[in-house]
Amino acid sequence: MCRDMKMLITGGAGFIGTNAALYFHNLGYQIAIVDNLSRVGVEHNIDYLKKHIEPLEIIISEVQDTTSYGEELSQSDVILHLAGQTAVTISIQDPLHDFNNNLFAGMKLLETIRVENPGAIVIYASTNKVYGDLRHHRYHKEEKSAQYRDTTCPQGIDEDEPLSFISPYGCSKGALDQYFLDYARTFNLATVVFRQSCIYGPFQQGVEDQGWVAHFAKLIMDNQSIRVFGDGYQVRDLLYVNDLLSAYSSAIDNISCCRGRAFNIGGGLSNAYSVINVLHLLEQEFSIKIDIDYKSSRIGDQLSFISANTSIKERLGWQPTTPFRTGIKHLLSWQKPFLIAN
Ligand SMILES: NC(=O)c1ccc[n+]([C@@H]2O[C@H](COP(=O)([O-])OP(=O)(O)OC[C@H]3O[C@@H](n4cnc5c(N)ncnc54)[C@H](O)[C@@H]3O)[C@@H](O)[C@H]2O)c1
Repeated sequence: MCRDMKMLITGGAGFIGTNAALYFHNLGYQIAIVDNLSRVGVEHNIDYLKKHIEPLEIIISEVQDTTSYGEELSQSDVILHLAGQTAVTISIQDPLHDFNNNLFAGMKLLETIRVENPGAIVIYASTNKVYGDLRHHRYHKEEKSAQYRDTTCPQGIDEDEPLSFISPYGCSKGALDQYFLDYARTFNLATVVFRQSCIYGPFQQGVEDQGWVAHFAKLIMDNQSIRVFGDGYQVRDLLYVNDLLSAYSSAIDNISCCRGRAFNIGGGLSNAYSVINVLHLLEQEFSIKIDIDYKSSRIGDQLSFISANTSIKERLGWQPTTPFRTGIKHLLSWQKPFLIAN
């Protein structure tokens, strides 16, 4: 389907950005990306995009420097704001760096859109970290499944969960999440916020601080041991990247019922795995025994986060379609040749 629309993707060289560029190019969008290449390894993603998308505009720039991509910004029908500092750990080491790349950069972008292109559809990749560590929930530690069960919200967490910003990353992402929603209320911008759980898939340059599934797989392929923070029973609902992008696409197509809304989005109950569950799955996949080095848990770490996905299902009929056992195979089949080549 050719939509003949222009899309600007900030953080377009990153994991979700690269997948988004390919996905929306296939739908007929003209793609421009902005990225400062600060994420180690993303230059490989750029090389891939150059070979597979034509025409493609690539602007190597800080998001904060909106003048360097002013023309693309003012001409875009859709803007995906994905650029940012993505790790809680780094935000604690350097809160100002985190602030500058998340809240300040995002506000600079949002303000420029308000002035230069107020009719654009704008999607912001927020995070489930806006709900804090959820330690007021009750949990049951289930030995059989090696998982914490959230007995307060057994069906998953919806958008009625109170916001609670823990860590500088939680503050910078959460504050920008609120600004995006408010710019719909106060200035009538067509903004949509996605509070994303753990997303995984090809082109993910996973490191210990962020992108843990890809990071684990990489270490296993390198025959290295794995550090697990906490007891490994903490649960995440894992969402395959193309399922996230189908939700973005649906929100764009149905903007009148999505503008000014925040959606929790994740793999849901059927894709909820603990860290130990994922390691066992990888052990089976590689037919090896993984050496685990346990460390104490990290600030803000949730014992369980499962997105209820109710709001997005109600409004858009969206639900995840890729089971984790299938999605992980897509990730590994991208990762194996990539690691050999690089
Ligand atoms: N991947 C996940 O599981 C997940 C979960 C929740 C939210 N998110 C959010 O989704 C967005 C994309 O995440 P990702 O996993 O693709 O991360 P990523 O690190 O792969 O991509 C982010 C990209 O932004 C670029 N960047 C960083 N700061 C920049 C700046 N100031 N100016 C220009 N470019 C900059 C980086 O070089 C990188 O290419 C992030 O905002 C992240 O917080 C991701």
